[in-house]
Amino acid sequence: MKRRPRRNRKSHAIRSMVEETKLGTENLIYPLFIEDGSGVKTEIKSLPNNFRWSLDTLLPEMDECVHLGLDKFVLFPAVSEELKDSLASYSFASDNFYLDAIRQIKERFPHIELMSDVALDPYSSDGHDGLVRNGKILNDETLPILAKMSIAQAQAGIDIIGPSDMMDGRIGFIREALDAEDYKDVSLMSYSAKYASAFYGPFRDALDSAPKAGDKKSYQMNPANKREALIEAELDVLEGADMLMVKPATCYLDVIHMLRENYDLPITAYNVSGECAMIYAASANGWLDYESAMTEMLLSIRRAGADGILSYFAKDFARIS
Ligand code: PBG
Repeated sequence: MKRRPRRNRKSHAIRSMVEETKLGTENLIYPLFIEDGSGVKTEIKSLPNNFRWSLDTLLPEMDECVHLGLDKFVLFPAVSEELKDSLASYSFASDNFYLDAIRQIKERFPHIELMSDVALDPYSSDGHDGLVRNGKILNDETLPILAKMSIAQAQAGIDIIGPSDMMDGRIGFIREALDAEDYKDVSLMSYSAKYASAFYGPFRDALDSAPKAGDKKSYQMNPANKREALIEAELDVLEGADMLMVKPATCYLDVIHMLRENYDLPITAYNVSGECAMIYAASANGWLDYESAMTEMLLSIRRAGADGILSYFAKDFARIS
């Protein structure tokens, strides 16, 4: 045998030199859930070790994360049922606790990049990402609400807006609205290829945000489709997105890879709640080794071509790296 690939694997010293993919804490964005009130730290049953925080408990938690090297966070609001309506009007109300939290977090940690989610579902009495009329999710009527929500978040000091609603034309609409108000430095990380996935279950538990009727298949993508992701990405590029996201991540590594090959913008991927829950559950049963399984999962997303990864594993990864 003239060629023996194992020679390049014979020691840690060689393996570390020929390692093709580097994964670091700098690639990770940590999702956090916040609710109104104080003294709250409620574990999410289907997502062990992840919590719903109130601002007073969240700030010290973020302090710990920052000390571990994390500097990118995405914040999701859990809104109480009586504040929800069909127009999601609480999303841009002046006394919205989420907007206040953005303000206070940025004051305390000016150097971090704080990302939001823009979609109606956490605020909507219908539990859908868009406006619902007669059982239909309306596209164009949803856009001004998304723009109002985005401007309210920009006013509060958000760094990156993450439209996750999958309405057509929303990136251009939001970009224009932000620019008109002079929020030119606020970035748009578009959930470009967001699939109608079964893996969002624990997230919807965390926020009580599951649709009250129907499903999200008329706006989120069919898991069977790949070429369609190119159409979505193309539109987001033309409309002014700064980064393109694929969601979920591990069942869609081919899509991440395809967008990486076809676009020059940074690609991110959302390692969603259900993907992380599988590893939490298997390791709690002693079926998988937690640290090596979650590292391998994150690495696979990075290898597929993601620059940034939103993951519930971010803090644990930061702790061991
Ligand atoms: C809502 C939103 C969802 C997630 C992020 N933003 C759920 C959904 O579309 O129903 C899921 C994230 C996860 O599962 O971790 N716009």
